[in-house]
Amino acid sequence: MVQFEHYRSPLHRYTFSVKPVRQWVEKRCEGRVLNLFAGPTLLNVDEVRNDLDPVMPADYHLDALELLRSWSGQMFNTILLDPPYALRKSMELYKGNICSPFRQLKDEIPRCLSPDGIVITFGYHSIVMGAGRKFSLERIALFSHGGAIHDTIASIERFNP
Ligand SMILES: C[S@@+](CC[C@H](N)C(=O)[O-])C[C@H]1O[C@@H](n2cnc3c(N)ncnc32)[C@H](O)[C@@H]1O
Repeated sequence: MVQFEHYRSPLHRYTFSVKPVRQWVEKRCEGRVLNLFAGPTLLNVDEVRNDLDPVMPADYHLDALELLRSWSGQMFNTILLDPPYALRKSMELYKGNICSPFRQLKDEIPRCLSPDGIVITFGYHSIVMGAGRKFSLERIALFSHGGAIHDTIASIERFNP
């Protein structure tokens, strides 16, 4: 059964700078983590960090899809996806850095993820990787920001190849 959690939290363009969200994600990450859209907040997990913006503290400053395609290191137990949620947000909030083509990015993930690994996604959708890629939805957390602001949906999907 899918586990459901609900929180009230302020909205910030850098998602993990909000303490309850950071604490939630740190608690849910497992093992070696690939943080593909890392932003400014260092997580208290074993993370490899990537962000296209060169001023962000990261191990790599590549387009997320390019990083996945070129990855030849150890596989990850968790892949964290917190991309810009919309093109307009990229322009207004993230210096015009837009998310890689998302379907291609999702297709590339299983090559870099251990069997039984998880993908944690933040955005407007609850199913991201999907059964077609052999993922099952385990948990949804809804972060409600109040007023007319869209909630942020975090989902955890487990890879069962
Ligand atoms: C929604 S923010 C989240 C950042 C981080 N997870 C946090 O909570 O602070 C999206 C991040 O993705 C980065 N980004 C945008 N396009 C990217 C791309 N194609 N590849 C890698 N990073 C990208 C932005 O620079 C920004 O830091």
